[in-house]
Amino acid sequence: MQINRRNWLKQLGIGVSGIGLANFNTLASPTVDFFESIVGDATINLNSNENPYGPSPLARAAMAKSINSSNRYNWQLTTDLVEALAKKNKVSAENILVGAGSTEIIDLVVRLAASTKGNLVTANPSYDNWIPTAKKLGLQAIKVPLNANKELNLEAMLQAISVDTRLVYVCNPNNPTGTICEHNKLLNFIHEASKKAIVLVDEAYLDFSKETSLGPLVVGNKNLIVVKTFSKLHGLAGARIGYAIGEATTLEQLGALQSWVSGNISVMSVAAALASLTDEKFMTDTSALNEQVKKYTIEQLKQLNLACIPSHANFVYFSLANYKQDYFQKLSSNNIIGTRIYEDAGLWTRITIGTREEMERFISVMR
Ligand SMILES: Cc1ncc(COP(=O)(O)O)c(C=O)c1O
Repeated sequence: MQINRRNWLKQLGIGVSGIGLANFNTLASPTVDFFESIVGDATINLNSNENPYGPSPLARAAMAKSINSSNRYNWQLTTDLVEALAKKNKVSAENILVGAGSTEIIDLVVRLAASTKGNLVTANPSYDNWIPTAKKLGLQAIKVPLNANKELNLEAMLQAISVDTRLVYVCNPNNPTGTICEHNKLLNFIHEASKKAIVLVDEAYLDFSKETSLGPLVVGNKNLIVVKTFSKLHGLAGARIGYAIGEATTLEQLGALQSWVSGNISVMSVAAALASLTDEKFMTDTSALNEQVKKYTIEQLKQLNLACIPSHANFVYFSLANYKQDYFQKLSSNNIIGTRIYEDAGLWTRITIGTREEMERFISVMR
């Protein structure tokens, strides 16, 4: 039997009877136990902006069932996923390219941009894991400081673009600060910047905000690529699924750099993504929980007299300038993993929003 999307979802029972949040804890235990058995302790991971509640119950069920189909390649399922993503993002299937996390997509864009040597323009601090690769491939990094509110300074970024610029990277909301670009300012920026270079808009955290995606804007603009991921709100970081939204001809160029176009994700991960897209309840509930726990965390950090930046994502950027104790020693001796100092001036760091219990523990350790 040919597996089409409807049959597949029916086979998994998706859309017939949803698994509610009530089952979260029971479903969560085996995952937690598994990881605890690897690391040997109950580490609280507040470092990678993962979803502490996910994957969604529907995605878990779909992954479990898909094990039986893992003897087959992922061709048909990937086609189904591309179609589902096109529908969700109000574009055509030719505007979607799937990869193993947004990391693979960013890597493809970097390789495409670096086919002619030059520079890249990005904000500082911003998401920068990919920059060493870009440098290795011959792109010099021009890092434009954020403004005083820790927002992307789009005017300065525009000015930094030259004839040698091959790639402009916009992380919106920005990691690590959680700030978001004002919509019309961003549209103007893209209009100007994409006349000169490829503009990559990274929407890894946009699902946590109320802002609309720029995905549909790629149609008619060969130099605009939007990258999205299932790693954050969908809670599928370990499943490794991300995708590009771009003009068909641009995606053809990106696809030419993939040995198997859209082919690098397992049947289990594609099944998880397809199911997760249907789980509106999971996304609404986890978004709401993130907001509640983020509010709590910011209030508590402010009570400790620490400056916080309002965040549109699932993490908070805050300053350790007024903190009198050894923050990193406190975290490590309590099995909590945080992140580094991003800006020496002001000692700014980032903390991921975990569950309420995890954040209560984090705050009590800080006190
Ligand atoms: C802004 C941003 N983009 C991309 C990624 C890569 O995510 P993934 O490869 O899991 O999709 C991350 C990971 O933390 C991120 O913060």
